[in-house]
Amino acid sequence: MRIILLGPPGSGKGTQAQRLVQRFGIVHLSTGEMLRAAVAAGTPVGLKAKDIMARGSLVPDDIVVGIISDRIDQPDAKNGFILDGFPRTVPQAEALDELLKHKHMKLDAVVELRVNESALVERVETRAAETRARGEEVRIDDTPEVLIKRLAAYRAQTEPLIHYYSERRKLLTVDGMMTIEEVTREIGRILTAIGAVDNNPAKKHPAAQRSSRSSARGAAKGAKPAAKGGAKGGPRGGVKAKKAARPALRAGKRTVKGAKKAAAKAIRRPAKKVTKKRAKA
Ligand code: AP5
Ligand code: MG
Repeated sequence: MRIILLGPPGSGKGTQAQRLVQRFGIVHLSTGEMLRAAVAAGTPVGLKAKDIMARGSLVPDDIVVGIISDRIDQPDAKNGFILDGFPRTVPQAEALDELLKHKHMKLDAVVELRVNESALVERVETRAAETRARGEEVRIDDTPEVLIKRLAAYRAQTEPLIHYYSERRKLLTVDGMMTIEEVTREIGRILTAIGAVDNNPAKKHPAAQRSSRSSARGAAKGAKPAAKGGAKGGPRGGVKAKKAARPALRAGKRTVKGAKKAAAKAIRRPAKKVTKKRAKA
């Protein structure tokens, strides 16, 4: 299974990725974790990324595409992966399409976590407070001021991906305002519905023991910028996505081969079940 978790800062990408890793035994590839590891290790990539991340901006496309390209080539990614925080711009998405095509790999789905902006602020504040309480170092970008910039970057550069993947029939939207457990259950349900996974909790893969941190460390070591040709174009705007009170399997559900009975039901779910008000992301 190869999926992307898409959502604003604090929407639960990392939380859900770790739970999916436990459940399905695939690797968690978080560009944010990889970049933080590179910063901590003082690698050339880390030195370039440090200030950019501290001010809540996005690291250049060629750097992150290079990191992901190298990481996907590693043996533990053969069984599948969860991309968390990548792609984050349309050029990154286009570069990923090219990479996967070149490697004869198929993307199963893009899971968008939709969360109200006020909840995002609260979650990031709570995470910072909990990290501090444990005596650990708080992420340099987990401050209210930098969060505002990260949210602005998400809206301007990442939100266009909702349209990008919706057009490509890959987008599945989940209400990220539910509890952590409920969100995990919904993601499992929709991935089962499209036939991407065998959602049997009894089957835990041995690879589930691997931590995303070790993946990040491995990637940070081997990271190098990719050729610039892979990342071109510009973000597309004008997305009018609808808020999903329940997860909305968008256009993609009609074309997924091998979908099980549940998928057929989901396909027939009428559009009116999706409320129209767009959550502020
Ligand atoms: P990155 O590390 O990807 O950060 P982010 O996208 O800003 O997201 P976060 O990690 O803050 O949030 P999350 O969605 O993972 O939420 P979490 O599960 O932790 O990127 C950092 C920086 O690196 C970027 O700003 C950029 O500079 C750079 N970068 C990374 N990738 C890049 C790329 N591709 N291109 C360019 N630059 C890149 O949850 C947050 C909190 O909420 C936790 O405390 C959790 O317990 C809680 N929580 C989670 N789910 C729920 C729930 N359902 N209910 C209640 N609480 C919840
Ligand atoms: Mg994260």
